[in-house]
Amino acid sequence: MAQRLTVIGTGYLGATHAACMAELGYEVLGIDVDADKIARLSAGELPFYEPGLEPILRRNLENGRLRFSTSYDEAAEFGDVHFVCVGTPQKPGEYAADMSYVDDTITALAPRLTRACLVIGKSTVPVGTAERLSRRLARLSPAGDLAELAWNPEFLREGYAVEDTLHPDRIVIGVESDRAEKVLRDVYTPMTSEGVPLIVTDYATSELVKVSANAFLATKISFINAMAEVCEAAHADVTKLSEALSHDDRIGGKFLGAGLGFGGGCLPKDIRAFMARAGELGVDQALSFLREVDAINIRRRIRMVDLARELLGGSFIGRTVGVLGAAFKPNSDDIRDSPALDVATSIRAQGGQVTVFDPQALENARRAHPELGYGTSAQDAVADAHVVLLLTEWKEFRDLDPEELGAFVAERNIVDGRNALDPERWRAAGWHYRALGRP
Ligand code: UDX
Repeated sequence: MAQRLTVIGTGYLGATHAACMAELGYEVLGIDVDADKIARLSAGELPFYEPGLEPILRRNLENGRLRFSTSYDEAAEFGDVHFVCVGTPQKPGEYAADMSYVDDTITALAPRLTRACLVIGKSTVPVGTAERLSRRLARLSPAGDLAELAWNPEFLREGYAVEDTLHPDRIVIGVESDRAEKVLRDVYTPMTSEGVPLIVTDYATSELVKVSANAFLATKISFINAMAEVCEAAHADVTKLSEALSHDDRIGGKFLGAGLGFGGGCLPKDIRAFMARAGELGVDQALSFLREVDAINIRRRIRMVDLARELLGGSFIGRTVGVLGAAFKPNSDDIRDSPALDVATSIRAQGGQVTVFDPQALENARRAHPELGYGTSAQDAVADAHVVLLLTEWKEFRDLDPEELGAFVAERNIVDGRNALDPERWRAAGWHYRALGRP
């Protein structure tokens, strides 16, 4: 384990990767252009919420294996292996991914690379990116061909980032030389020695594994949400349907949870960037189904707003709405493309008085949507509400007592946007309970 690693980009992916690689025994230098983020990480403070990560960060700062810096000079000097973990957000007004952070990283790093090293891309990118960047790297680097590129997509889920990084389902590496393969095999020995499968392939395939995995997951969620639409029309129960389907091994029960659908910094923008890239490659038809996947997903948010309005007798004007959840999913403070906030802002735009509570995402939500009201607890957010909406299924919301919560509201109306509550229990406590995909 001689390598010294750098991790460039210290967001959800990079900060987790840096801390976990240090935990495995490597010397790691984390790099980011955001000086504030670097200062916080250096002080042992995570700039986002991720269960279990902060102790690992602190432990490895204290033992000296992990440091952070804003200097690319230091990165080039320090590392034999450089992981690129910067973001690839959706371009404003387009489906395609914004590649400027990835491109800028290579442009900044390459001229400083004077000795043999491996640059490993982990960001989610359009297929063909690694090929393009490998040429740029060789052209800009004084080390020439000795500064090599590999692609190594990351599959971690927010909320389980530590577990997913230290014990991944699989490791995929896209390489063009035996040397690059050997370096990556060495780096990941702690995982492969525990039996984690490692798949070696070319650049393009490795890039495609990541986007097709996310496309599949998004499709699975939209499939069950399409069934929820049919269930609503046919007075059937999508949760029972999903349960029955899940016993078929070929289908499986994961990602078959019907509700408000997917959001976050990955699935929505990744399927759109994938469609955009397929268009460029002349195979847009192959992915036209992803348009429908996206459309089904967005329709769930609209349906949620409609259901809430129905419960209020047809209008939000002058009505109070308590919203439970702001993060795009539980165990995260990430509000990027959050279905919950989308619903909350639509209702406000239609004249509802909305108060939101989330156990971790309040600060982010308030910054992005200062126009919404915010509560200090679930009870505070639902105070005097005419309808309560459960939009992110945090455990503390699942565990709410319908009788106790009922004491705070003006009317006992609830829409369960995540099929997270027991309808019988809530109805028994006098609540008018509605849910997506259920009678
Ligand atoms: C996802 C992928 O899972 C991960 O492999 C990839 O690296 C990044 O994108 P993440 O964005 O952290 O990870 O969230 P994930 O747990 O996949 O959930 C995505 C969204 O789908 C959430 O909004 C969640 O609420 C929703 N979801 C998930 C459902 O609506 N139903 C389900 O059954 C599962």
